[in-house]
Amino acid sequence: MNKTVYTKDVPSDRLEVLGVIKAHKKPVKVMIIGGTDSGKTTAMVFFANELLSLGFRIAVIDSDIGQKGILPPATITLGFPDRLFNSLDEITPYKHYFIGSITPNQFFGEMITGVKVLIDEALKKADVILIDTTGFVHGSGVDLKRMKIETIKPDIILALGRENELEPILKPFENKIRIFKLKVSEKIRKHSREERREIRREKWRTYFKNSKSYLLNLNEYYISGTSLFHGEEIREEEKKLLESLFKWLIIYGVKIDGRYFVVKVDLVNFPRQVDRSTLHYIDFERLSNLIVGLIDDKGFCVGLGILKVINFKEKTIEILTPLTEDEMKKVREIRFGRIRVREDGEELGLLDRNLL
Ligand SMILES: Nc1ncnc2c1ncn2[C@@H]1O[C@H](COP(=O)(O)OP(=O)(O)OP(=O)(O)O)[C@@H](O)[C@H]1O
Ligand SMILES: [Mg+2]
Repeated sequence: MNKTVYTKDVPSDRLEVLGVIKAHKKPVKVMIIGGTDSGKTTAMVFFANELLSLGFRIAVIDSDIGQKGILPPATITLGFPDRLFNSLDEITPYKHYFIGSITPNQFFGEMITGVKVLIDEALKKADVILIDTTGFVHGSGVDLKRMKIETIKPDIILALGRENELEPILKPFENKIRIFKLKVSEKIRKHSREERREIRREKWRTYFKNSKSYLLNLNEYYISGTSLFHGEEIREEEKKLLESLFKWLIIYGVKIDGRYFVVKVDLVNFPRQVDRSTLHYIDFERLSNLIVGLIDDKGFCVGLGILKVINFKEKTIEILTPLTEDEMKKVREIRFGRIRVREDGEELGLLDRNLL
């Protein structure tokens, strides 16, 4: 299922912009911003195809983590389309950067780093770099876009705004960057939350379709995105004390800078008053089906895995992933994400960043 395909039936202001991109000194970075369903991806697909037919070398960066065109979700992806394409999923991905969520909330650092490192790669090979972004343009989305613009330093911004909604983002850059305020097409079809979730469900399912299970030794990888393996493991008496106080079964626990962090299972149902500043906890079951990034020695994401179970005693982790044994050899790091997904594509919810 793809919501966005190549069409030449676009508002005429796109042709003016096409002329500007053609004439601009190369390489040229073009960032596309707009709210959800404003036509960002349609515009990117249009420009990529038109410029490809003119012989330019094109890079596309898909940073719309909520509605990725290029698989997998929860990453930012760079691709170099080398022939005309109808939709983004036809592009062979070149590199991914792991975000681990389908919303940029709590992941501003990753979003900005990811786009930046992929642009650095793109600049080595492309004349025109087209950057698609999330529709997160209100509230703290304004700050995220500002920081992205400050970091990326696009030559051209294409702004697909309804009325003046993008002004808070654009104002500081008005006399510094060439900004084109483009018309939102009347042909736009809006997609409900449920439709978006359904589109994502199919993408997750497609990505994990031919997955297999790997049992990995935690000591052989650098583990990031969680403090679970920081600090000192708690002593048996501390564990026993916490278990009896809170009626938990503690599977694993560490003490980091004087604060306990435990993985537990409730043994009985009773109201507990826990001071989170000294005792932090996560339910064991919430670690299962968590998306993890499988990261290479350069910090790029080779692929995604679904964490099935951690055996804290044996220090092993079972992961389901479509990566082949050869691809797995490139993996140096396992990075914990914050979304739980089943291999059939069903999203089981987001975890708060601070939970892990
Ligand atoms: N010029 C057009 N002609 C026909 N349909 C269009 C046109 N522009 C956009 N659409 C349709 O409107 C919908 C939204 O467009 P598009 O996916 O490009 O928006 P977006 O801003 O990228 O959305 P998202 O926020 O989900 O990333 C799509 O289904 C697309 O096919
Ligand atoms: Mg889009």
